[in-house]
Amino acid sequence: MPAWRIRDAHAEDLEAVVRLWERSRAAGVEPVYALAEVLTSATEDIAVVATAQDLIVGAAVARRAHNQAWVVFHGVDDAWHGLGIGPGLLRAVETRVAEAGPSTLSALVPGEQTHLDAFRDAGFEEKKAVRYLERRIRVQREEMVLLEELGGRVLPRGLWDGVAGMRHEKDLIERRLVLPLAEPALADRFGVAPPRAVVMFGPPGTGKTTFAKAIASRLDWSFVEVFPSRLAADPAGLAGALRDTFHRIAELEHAVVLIDEVEEIASHRRGDPPSPLQGVTNELLKLIPAFRERPDRLLVCATNFIRSLDSAFLRHGRFDYVIPIGLPDAEARAAIWARFLPPAAAQSVDVDAVVAASDGFTPADIEFAARRANQAALEAAVDGGDGAGPSTEHYLAAVAATRATVSAQVAGEFAEDIETFGRV
Ligand SMILES: Nc1ncnc2c1ncn2[C@@H]1O[C@H](COP(=O)(O)OP(=O)(O)OP(=O)(O)O)[C@@H](O)[C@H]1O
Ligand SMILES: [Mg+2]
Repeated sequence: MPAWRIRDAHAEDLEAVVRLWERSRAAGVEPVYALAEVLTSATEDIAVVATAQDLIVGAAVARRAHNQAWVVFHGVDDAWHGLGIGPGLLRAVETRVAEAGPSTLSALVPGEQTHLDAFRDAGFEEKKAVRYLERRIRVQREEMVLLEELGGRVLPRGLWDGVAGMRHEKDLIERRLVLPLAEPALADRFGVAPPRAVVMFGPPGTGKTTFAKAIASRLDWSFVEVFPSRLAADPAGLAGALRDTFHRIAELEHAVVLIDEVEEIASHRRGDPPSPLQGVTNELLKLIPAFRERPDRLLVCATNFIRSLDSAFLRHGRFDYVIPIGLPDAEARAAIWARFLPPAAAQSVDVDAVVAASDGFTPADIEFAARRANQAALEAAVDGGDGAGPSTEHYLAAVAATRATVSAQVAGEFAEDIETFGRV
C-alpha cells in the first residue's frame, strides 16, 4: 500500500488546496464554501494536508466558531481514494479542533455528494433532518463605511409592503423599475434595458420619498439621499460636492440614489447674468450619463415643481420614466389614519367615514388632523370627565377644520403636468 502521511498545511500548500477545491467543482459538485472562504480558513484557522510521494493528495480545512468548528473543505485526489486518507484528514482536523477548544466538529456537504464514507469512518453522524439555508448579505462591510460617509443606509426589508394603497403607482413601479432591476438577465433576454434614472413628481407629501425608499428596500440595495441644500455648505461648492458625491456613489455595488427637491439644482437655465446655479445644473447634466453607464443602480430625482425643471434636464435619454405620484387613495389614507388612531379608537371609530371625509388630504394633512382630534378628545376628557377617547365625531370635526395642503388649483396643475410631463 502506498505510504501517505498527514501534516499541518503550510503557506506553500495553498496552491494544492486550490487545485483540490477546483477538482471537486469540475466533478460537478458545487462546493458549499467559496474558495476565498476556504483559503481564509486555511491561513487563519485549521488546515491539514495528506502527502504521498512528495505530492499533496488530500486536504482538509476547518474554521472555529465559538464552541463549534466547521469543516469548510475536505478533498482527496481521485487516484488516492480508498486508502483511508479521507478519514485520516478528518481525524487530524478533529485533534487540532479539540486543542483549540470547540466541542463539536460539523460539516456541510453538497447534496450531490453521495459518498460520505470518509465522514462516517471518521465517526461523523449524519443528521438527516437538517436543511441548509443561506442568504447573501448584499451590502458588505467595506461598502458600509462608504455608505456611511455618503449618509446612506441599508433600509429594513418590507418597506415596499408598507406602502399602502397607491395600487396604480405601485404596479407601475413594480413592472417598469423593480422587475428589470431585480431580474437583469430576464430583462436582457427580452431586450429590455433596465432603467437607470427616473423622475418622480407630485404635490408635497404624496409619497415620493416613501416610494424611493421602498424600491431600495424591495431590491435589497443601499439607499443614498442627496440633499442639494446640504451639499451647498461644502467647501468645494455645490457643483464640486455633487461631483464628489457621484464619484463615491459609483463605488457602491447596488444603490438607489434619491435627489430630493431636484428643482433646486435643475431649474430653468436662464437669466442674465446667469444664475450661479447654472453651473450646478450643468454638472448634474454631465453626471447623469456617467451614472447611467453602470449597472445595479437607480437614480430617482424627486420634485414638487416639475414645471420649473430645465427642459434639457427632462429630455429623452436622460430619464427612462417621468412618474407622477398623486394624492393617497382611500386605501393609503386608511393605512395612514391607522397609524395615528389609538388602539381603542381604531376599534370604535367609523374609519371608512373618516377616510372618505379626508379625500384630497396628503399624509401630512392626515397626521395633522389626527393629532388635532386626539388632542381635542383628551381635553374634553379632562374637562368634562368623558374618558371614552376620540370618536368618529372628533375625527370628522378635525378633518373639516383642516385645510388640505393640495388646493384644487394645485391638484388641477398636477393633472395638467401628468399630461405634459408624465412619461411611463
Ligand atoms: N402609501 C402610503 N402608505 C403609508 N404611508 C404613506 C404613504 N405615502 C406616504 N406615506 C407617509 O406620508 C408621509 C409623507 O410621504 P413622503 O415623505 O414620501 O412624501 P413626499 O412625496 O416625498 O413629500 P415631499 O414632496 O414633501 O418630499 C411619510 O410619513 C410617509 O410615511
Ligand atoms: Mg420627499
